Amino acid sequence: MSEQTQKIIDESAKVLVQNYEAQPFVLDRGEGIYAWDTDGNKYIDCSIGFAVASLGHAHPAMLKTINEQAGKLMICQASYMTEPKLKCAKLLVENSCFDKVYFSNSGAESIEAALKLARKWAYEEKGEHCNEIIAFHKGFHGRTYGAASVTEKCHSQPFFGPYIPGVHFAELNNLDSVKEFVSDKTAAIILEPIQGEGGLYPATEEFIKGLRALCDEHDVALIFDEIQVGMGRIGTFFAYETFGAEPDIATLAKGIGSGFPVGAMVAKDRFAKHMTPGSHGTTYGGNPLATAVAHTVVSEILKPGFLENVVKVGTFIEEGLQELQRESNKITDIRGRGLLLGMDTTIDIKQLINALQKNGLMATQAGKATLRITPPLIIEQQQAQDALDIIGATLKQEE
Ligand SMILES: Cc1ncc(COP(=O)(O)O)c(C=O)c1O
Repeated sequence: MSEQTQKIIDESAKVLVQNYEAQPFVLDRGEGIYAWDTDGNKYIDCSIGFAVASLGHAHPAMLKTINEQAGKLMICQASYMTEPKLKCAKLLVENSCFDKVYFSNSGAESIEAALKLARKWAYEEKGEHCNEIIAFHKGFHGRTYGAASVTEKCHSQPFFGPYIPGVHFAELNNLDSVKEFVSDKTAAIILEPIQGEGGLYPATEEFIKGLRALCDEHDVALIFDEIQVGMGRIGTFFAYETFGAEPDIATLAKGIGSGFPVGAMVAKDRFAKHMTPGSHGTTYGGNPLATAVAHTVVSEILKPGFLENVVKVGTFIEEGLQELQRESNKITDIRGRGLLLGMDTTIDIKQLINALQKNGLMATQAGKATLRITPPLIIEQQQAQDALDIIGATLKQEE
């Protein structure tokens, strides 16, 4: 490590709140699927800021939009209409089962909007008593109070309490465990169709369809957190398409901005109409720059062949990992879908991530011990092979 890089790391420790573990390098720039650190080391970026940069780094279409829109209009009062906001909302509505869009700036903010909408809908349609929410063990929805309250981790973080009341945690893929909590007080059920942070655990199609039927039977709002799995990450534009059942409300962020901070909550009219003037809002949400960028990103994802590439290269990587599993007994499980893949190994996860970094590949941890591989959705087969070669060589070298 160069003296300059060490200096940045040391000085950062002095002035930044230490809520993240220090990393042994400083990132400098990115292009496509690659990133470089301040010492000039090149990485295949399968981290992309925790599954964010769907179009990779420095995508030309995004740069063009940022330049043009920043010079034209970056911000205005949130209640004002702008063309980028309309165009982006139309694109989301025309390509989904949803009727209305609310723009936010992050994943957690989209979750807050979804929870508040579901509770307001329940309050107005079913009564004040109806405010309970069912979430899932190992689920993750963000760090703000509402989002943290439906994230099981709140149990291991009592120091932030009290969290919002009326939340129950059921077991993914166990419909009976959900039914136990459903009553006339239940306003909403919230889940990630594939749990990301929790360790790459997919819901089954049968379970999702069962939840849909349960919500219909008891008139409960079904919320899909598509912040990590949506916008093409698992091979369909919205993740719900993969599972064959429509939610009432969905949350987006990460991939919709591909690195630009923007999020959204989308909802069917029956629910969305309860978000009336003054009930909710944000200064920056839906600003012209963010929505222009999101429009560009979504337009790229919807181009013919884009999602096919996700499925093709996702399958290629998954099969490549299975091949590595046959060759070595160090891989104990492979999970996920499309370009959201997870791998459990016998190697300590932090050691594995560090070794991969040294060998030129960045990936992240999910759950307690899962390696999460989330390359940009534009990754090509040869680049995927390069990533597999690094993973294979690293597995051989580590005990
Ligand atoms: C499924 C899911 N929901 C919500 C969030 C929170 O998003 P943000 O960090 O943008 O607030 C995340 C972030 O990792 C996530 O993976």
